Amino acid sequence: MSTSDALPPIDLGPAAQYPEGEVFRVSADDSGWNDDIAVVHAEDGGFYALDDTCSHEAVSLSDGYVEEDTLECPMHASAFCLRTGVPETLPALRPVKTHRVTMDGDRLVLHPGTPRPDGDSAP
Ligand code: FES
Repeated sequence: MSTSDALPPIDLGPAAQYPEGEVFRVSADDSGWNDDIAVVHAEDGGFYALDDTCSHEAVSLSDGYVEEDTLECPMHASAFCLRTGVPETLPALRPVKTHRVTMDGDRLVLHPGTPRPDGDSAP
């Protein structure tokens, strides 16, 4: 992905409103991105964002489950690394794109189209 894919950041409001261990969907209509985005408040306290559509079939990952540092697809249970978007278990083979999440004071900011700085291996 090139940086030219980056869209304007979105203020998602106070981070405190997102319970740890849960996942939330930001619609493509709201972000301008070409997919909904699954935003995860992980068990490590960090926030992560992945493309919402599983790379195996057209299933919403935000209907899935946060398991340690992965987001597990609700259909066939492929577990996608929150940092890289890479599936760690079958049947999915291709990664999903990551998106950067930052804080502005106590507010959560999503950067659609800007990969996480620690590694996005999605095409
Ligand atoms: S639809 Fe996600 S693993 Fe099959």
